[in-house]
Formats: sequence, structure tokens, C-alpha cells
Amino acid sequence: MKMHSLHGLSRFGISIPTKLLRRFDALIARQGCPNRSEALRDLIRERMVEEEWEAGKGEVVGTVTLVYDHHVRELTQKLTELQHHHHTEILSTLHIHLDEYHCLEVLAVKGKSKEVRQIADQLIGTKGVKHGKLVTTTTGRSLD
Ligand code: NI
Repeated sequence: MKMHSLHGLSRFGISIPTKLLRRFDALIARQGCPNRSEALRDLIRERMVEEEWEAGKGEVVGTVTLVYDHHVRELTQKLTELQHHHHTEILSTLHIHLDEYHCLEVLAVKGKSKEVRQIADQLIGTKGVKHGKLVTTTTGRSLD
């Protein structure tokens, strides 16, 4: 592939079906992305982060978001026990009392992807948790 490199930035030309490019432009315009280059860099980084999680070698980071009713019997206790058990991977927990019943928790997690996923699955799968989601992100090291 032909490439020019200047100040650590490379430029390259790509061929893409016109219709597909038009759709891509419409999509990034809707998302408020300033230009194709930025949109493409974002896509590449997104795929790199996915790969980090799939490869399972190094450390990954993420957040686990949980919404639950703290009146559900023993639920708070179960969630706290799980978090203590995985104290190495769970770096920090943010707890917000949403109303009389509902709690929102956001946990920052770091470790091997397999372990982090297991911890997230356990937390989200705990009976009484109304909604939960793992956001998979990166330590940033693979995106330099
Ligand atoms: Ni609460």
C-alpha cells in the first residue's frame, strides 16, 4: 500500500463503493462527526479495543453499570460480597441512591478480559438486578 508519513501521521487512499461511502457520510453527519478521517480513526480504534478484549492477553478496563432495588432481600449483601471477593479487579464503585428504592452503581473494573466478563456477568445476573451493562474500553496503550 502506498503511504505518506509526516509527523507520525500517514495518509492513504482507499477504494470504496460510492453508495457505501454516501451512506457512511450520511451516518457520520447524523452523529456530528467532523470528517471522514476522524470517523475512520474512531472505527479503527473501536475494532482495536474489541480485539484487545478478544485476544484476552493483556489487561483491559471497563465499567459495569447496575440498577437495582435495595429492598430486595439480601441483594445488597450479595452484591457487596461479590465485590469484596473480586477486590483486585474492582477498582472503585460509585453508588447513587436514585429514589426510595432504586440504586445505581457504576464499577470500574480492570484485569484479564475473561475474568472481567465473568465478574460483570455475575453482578448483572444476580437476582434482583433490574438492569446491568458492561462497557468494554481500553487502558489506551494499544491505541497510541
Ligand atoms: Ni442506594
